[in-house]
Amino acid sequence: MTFHGRNAVVTGGANGIGLAISRNIAAAGGNVFIFDLASENPAAAAASIGAQACIADVTDHASLERAFAAAGVPDIVIANAGMGRVASALETSADLWNQTIAVNLTGAFHTIRIAADRMKSARKAGSIVLTASTNSFDGEPDLIAYNASKAGLLGLLHTAANEWGPYGIRVNAVCPGLIRTRLTASSFSNPDVLAAYFRHIPLGRGGEPDEVAQAVLFLASDLASYITGTTLVVDGGQLASKFGTWGKDTDSFDGQRWRRNT
Ligand SMILES: NC(=O)c1ccc[n+]([C@@H]2O[C@H](COP(=O)([O-])OP(=O)(O)OC[C@H]3O[C@@H](n4cnc5c(N)ncnc54)[C@H](O)[C@@H]3O)[C@@H](O)[C@H]2O)c1
Repeated sequence: MTFHGRNAVVTGGANGIGLAISRNIAAAGGNVFIFDLASENPAAAAASIGAQACIADVTDHASLERAFAAAGVPDIVIANAGMGRVASALETSADLWNQTIAVNLTGAFHTIRIAADRMKSARKAGSIVLTASTNSFDGEPDLIAYNASKAGLLGLLHTAANEWGPYGIRVNAVCPGLIRTRLTASSFSNPDVLAAYFRHIPLGRGGEPDEVAQAVLFLASDLASYITGTTLVVDGGQLASKFGTWGKDTDSFDGQRWRRNT
């Protein structure tokens, strides 16, 4: 895959999955602009991978407009900025609900709408990838606002792909499972949580940000030229493991992954 001559915007690109996406696109020759909050020092993250940075808060339409104006017309936009906080449905406050929807869903809407407007007028081409989640499909407890926001992204995905296909703009989403980032640090630092969670992952382990990035690069690239309106699940098989995979007498868990000893 090559991204030479392509402008790419990655929201939430200063950390985790977004930083891996930014690094991989830059390494493949793309001209990457990381959009992130000032508090995350996106300029330092960008400098470390040969990218550029713009301060942007995806919940603030005006700040996104300013960032896109500075970055020029994008060929590729990765709407990846996101947050999540654990709370039972009954304990989810109106503030937590509103903040989660504002960042994960409304923020993605603002991002791709501004991007598509620029792509449509300047190029009649473009590729947009949303970072959705396996939680777009399932009902993991204590994440009702997060789950609703990620399910909502599927509505954005389908509608945007339908409306913007005629302008040569493809819109797809990756749906990661449990990936090792700061968002999931408390799970990854607790072997008991991991052992239980990974029982339902056929590959027996969590994912790394680079493994999501590779899927995003495929969808963003010309290799996916006839793919739009769809999701690519990057979850080690989790959604295929309804009845669980691991836990036989021949299985052991080493603190980070399950192995079968036969
Ligand atoms: N880590 C996982 O297991 C996992 C699984 C599925 C989906 N995801 C999704 O992947 C995306 C990246 O998450 P991550 O795990 O890398 O977490 P992360 O916390 O490492 O990165 C999230 C980034 O989004 C940025 N961000 C948050 N609010 C923002 C705002 N208002 N404006 C601009 N930027 C903002 C943060 O500053 C940060 O750089 C999120 O959308 C998340 O929901 C993560």
